[in-house]
Amino acid sequence: MNYKLAVIPGDGTGPEVTREAVRVLMRVAELHQLSIQTTAHDFGAERYFKTGELLSDASVDALRSYDAILLGAIGHPDAPPGLLERDILLKLRFSLDQYINLRPVKLYPGVRSPLRNCAAMDYVVVRENTGGLYTGVGRQLQAGTPDEVAEQTMVYTYAQVERCLRYAFEYALRRHADTPWTGLTDAQRAAGYRAKLTLCGKSNVLTYVFDLWNRVLAALKPQYPTVYVDYVHVDAVCIYMIEDPARFDVIVTTNMFGDIITDLAATTQGGMGIAPGGNLNPEGVSMFEPIGGTAPLFTGKNEINPLAAIGSVGLMLDHLGHPDAAAMVDRAIAKTTPTMASMQAGKMGMSTTAVGDAVLANLS
Ligand code: IPM
Ligand code: MN
Repeated sequence: MNYKLAVIPGDGTGPEVTREAVRVLMRVAELHQLSIQTTAHDFGAERYFKTGELLSDASVDALRSYDAILLGAIGHPDAPPGLLERDILLKLRFSLDQYINLRPVKLYPGVRSPLRNCAAMDYVVVRENTGGLYTGVGRQLQAGTPDEVAEQTMVYTYAQVERCLRYAFEYALRRHADTPWTGLTDAQRAAGYRAKLTLCGKSNVLTYVFDLWNRVLAALKPQYPTVYVDYVHVDAVCIYMIEDPARFDVIVTTNMFGDIITDLAATTQGGMGIAPGGNLNPEGVSMFEPIGGTAPLFTGKNEINPLAAIGSVGLMLDHLGHPDAAAMVDRAIAKTTPTMASMQAGKMGMSTTAVGDAVLANLS
């Protein structure tokens, strides 16, 4: 198999973590007889400061010819707040119609969670990625006057909700294709369930939007009789993520709620340094990125944890149809975390490159 991969290291610690992720990817590819040709693209702060270009439509079109994109991080303290994030990162997600943001939450061996009771934590958040409060729909009226009004509108179409929920159902099934999810009750298992899908919303307040989500959920449910479906308000989801994360298998939610709860989730799994992510267009070009940002305080110090970027490469391999290669990456991360003092004490014990070396050595 031959793949063309666009690599966008981006800003801050992005290049450092991306370097390690690419090293791991190339080795895993070799072991699985995959040929991957990488092309670097310099979108980000430096290019913007030099040329004024953020991300042109022509650049987006050029990216369409790749099989996947690997991205480090985008953002810079000296750029106007939010500009690079909006005009590069969000533009990529929206123009390439990457409508799913997949964020697995897993506690690897030896990783210290801030949670007291965290024997089991292994769930996935499916965040809707191109709609809701991120669409920029809104307005300001009478700006600058005491009567000023600002609106930001959460917009969802039936089609957007349906494709997101369908993806979540399919993903839940695929995740437990071999053995049913271990968190099911005996009664649920006896009733034939294999997986659980939790819709995270706020139907008691955001009545229009979550009436739609719940109706689409109910409409799809009969097509997935082995997926146990439940609905939980977002505020309660936050409680359970702290008190009883083992109750979750696959959580599906809106763009904004997904943004917020995945930061909370990342914290419970040991921090941003270990939380991978994928922006998926199942019919198009997908982009894989650690969910953390540019970490300006760590930039250039060879101190940042590259495991989130390495985990994102695992998600990419899985998405490209190579679950064995993805599992190899996952096993290597699980072998590496117990050796990292940083993952227990919350401070850096191993350099960025040393973590990359360890993961490479642990590939088997
Ligand atoms: C994320 C980030 C982005 C988002 C920002 C940088 C626009 O927080 O990937 O979660 O809100 O989606
Ligand atoms: Mn975020």
